[in-house]
Order: sequence, then C-alpha cells, then structure tokens
Amino acid sequence: MHNKLANSHLPTKPYTAGQAVPVRELHAGYRQEVLNHLLQLDEDDRRLRFGTHTPDEVIERYVEGLDFNRDVVFGIFDLDLKLIGMAHLAYLPALKGRARSAEFGVSVLPEGRAQGLGAALLQRAAVHSRNTRIETLYVHCLANNKAMMHLAQKAGMRVEYAYGDADAYLKLPPANPATIVQEAANEQWADLDYALKANLKRSNQAWWWFLGRPMLAR
Ligand SMILES: CC(C)(COP(=O)(O)OP(=O)(O)OC[C@H]1O[C@@H](n2cnc3c(N)ncnc32)[C@H](O)[C@@H]1OP(=O)(O)O)[C@@H](O)C(=O)NCCC(=O)NCCS
Repeated sequence: MHNKLANSHLPTKPYTAGQAVPVRELHAGYRQEVLNHLLQLDEDDRRLRFGTHTPDEVIERYVEGLDFNRDVVFGIFDLDLKLIGMAHLAYLPALKGRARSAEFGVSVLPEGRAQGLGAALLQRAAVHSRNTRIETLYVHCLANNKAMMHLAQKAGMRVEYAYGDADAYLKLPPANPATIVQEAANEQWADLDYALKANLKRSNQAWWWFLGRPMLAR
C-alpha cells in the first residue's frame, strides 16, 4: 500500500520537472519485486507488454527465467520503494556477420505514467547498449500501442509495421567517454536516490512505532 504519510507533502508526479530520473540496474535479488510489478499490470497492459494474453503463470515463468547475468533489468522505484517502472534489455544471440542487437521491453505502472519514466528507461537502455557494443536496439510491440510507438519515434527509432505488429529499431553509434560517464552518473544518482528513499521509509516506520500508529498492510 502506498505510504501516504511519507508522500502527503510531496508532489504526486515527482519526475515531471524534467530532472534526471534515477534508473537502477537490478540484480537477481530483485526478482520478487519484478514479479510483483508485472503481476500488477492489468490484462490490456500485459497484452501490450508481451504481445499476447499473459496469465499470472506465464509471468511467473518469465520472471523465473530472467537471467540477470546475461541480460540487464532496469528499475525505477517510487517513494515507498515500490518498483514503479522496469525494463528488460535482452541480448539477442550474436550471429556471424550481423550487427549485435538487443531487445527492449518496458512497463510502467499506471500511477507512474506520463512522467517520463518510460522514456528514461529507454534512454538508459540505449546508453547501456552502446556501452556494451550493441549496434541495434529493437522493440517489438503491437501496432496499436500508441504510447510505445510515440516513445520509440521520439527516441529516433525507425518503425516498421506488419500484420498488426510493429518493430522499432534504433541504430546506435559506438560508445564514447561521454556515454560511459553518463551511465555511471545515472547509476550513482539512482543508488543515492534509493538510499534516501530507504531512510525516509525507515524513519516513517519509526515514527509510526513511536506514535503507536498501526503499520499499513503491504
Ligand atoms: C508504454 C509505457 C511504458 C510508457 O510509459 P510512460 O512512463 O508513460 O512513458 P513516458 O511518460 O516516458 O512517455 C509516454 C509518451 O507517450 C505519450 N502517450 C501516452 N499515451 C499515448 C497515446 N494513447 N497516444 C499517443 N501518445 C501517447 C505521452 O504523452 C508521452 O509523450 P510525451 O512525453 O511526448 O508527452 C507504459 O504506457 C506502459 O507500461 N504500457 C504497458 C506496457 C507496454 O505497452 N510496454 C511497451 C511494449 S514493450
């Protein structure tokens, strides 16, 4: 449940001011958070995210199968440390004579949308891809996914439509010192942001204990 006490004095859309959005790279210890996040998507959002009807069991298998060593999972946390946005950057098998490529999949919970979180996840994935020698970033989605199509086109992706599906491609230039620094700076900012939110959450819990306020069920 959302931490109303902690958030009552804060803007409901904390990222709309155009500040850098703190995007963390998640390790396997966040598997449960990733699962909780994806299970909160409703049927329509699951269809948009995975391209087909996706019941809970399929999501559970997908999350169990995530390989955090091979692929990269990015996350954005809200003030209550709930994973409000996440992206999976899946490295596609390298084929001889073909450009190295990766596929990007993303979801933002409804309460976090239209604040630039999806764009921040795409941007972070693109920079990480450049820094790991990926030449083509690829997004597969339904052609009627207006928000994703808009995001992709805004990021300069070329979009091809076929049979109700859309494939968006972004040709990436090689990494340079600026992309390395950009990613390191965002990672540090995200770690600091996470630590601050964790402290805020702990101090709120301490106040509740002190004031005898019952803890809200999670
Ligand atoms: C797609 C998704 C990740 C976007 O997340 P988000 O945090 O809202 O993204 P942003 O706020 O960065 O940007 C969304 C953009 O799409 C635009 N948009 C939203 N709905 C739109 C629509 N129906 N038509 C056109 N544009 C739309 C927004 O105005 C915004 O553009 P702007 O920044 O130029 O104003 C989110 O909607 C989502 O999780 N959808 C379900 C899963 C999904 O579709 N995943 C993508 C397939 S892998």
